[in-house]
Amino acid sequence: MKQVQNAIDAEIDKKKRFYPNKEALLLPVLHAAQRAYGWLPHDVMEMVAKSLELPLPKVKQVTSFYTMFYKKPVGECHLQVCNNIACYLRGSSDVIHYIENKLGILPGETTKDGLFTLTEVECLGSCGTAPVIQINDDYFESVSRSDVDKILEAKQ
Ligand code: FES
Repeated sequence: MKQVQNAIDAEIDKKKRFYPNKEALLLPVLHAAQRAYGWLPHDVMEMVAKSLELPLPKVKQVTSFYTMFYKKPVGECHLQVCNNIACYLRGSSDVIHYIENKLGILPGETTKDGLFTLTEVECLGSCGTAPVIQINDDYFESVSRSDVDKILEAKQ
């Protein structure tokens, strides 16, 4: 947990002069905490709240609103498949079912080896290249079944 606290402190030091108040600084600090720990359990949210002198319910409210903040552990490879309207119309449901069958998991689940987590998400802001999958920090666009095969093989 020392490593997480260090990441939180470093982010606050680095970014505080760019943000008008502690509420605005909350998002980058939560990202830093998540990068350091992998997800945001209660203890980590509490560290963020104390470090920014914000009420814990405020921190929990923000993390519950954004799907980019993980409330449970995710696999090494987090597949976030957009199933909003543009992606849906271009076959994202088929892509999701294909991944479910290949990995033997449903959205919200992680494979037993801890390698893959599948999550269905709202618009990823790349509707012109639908369907879109975000894997960790990378976008994969105009994704087909054969692209899924290549992506998963490269990650295994
Ligand atoms: S609807 Fe999928 S990226 Fe916008």
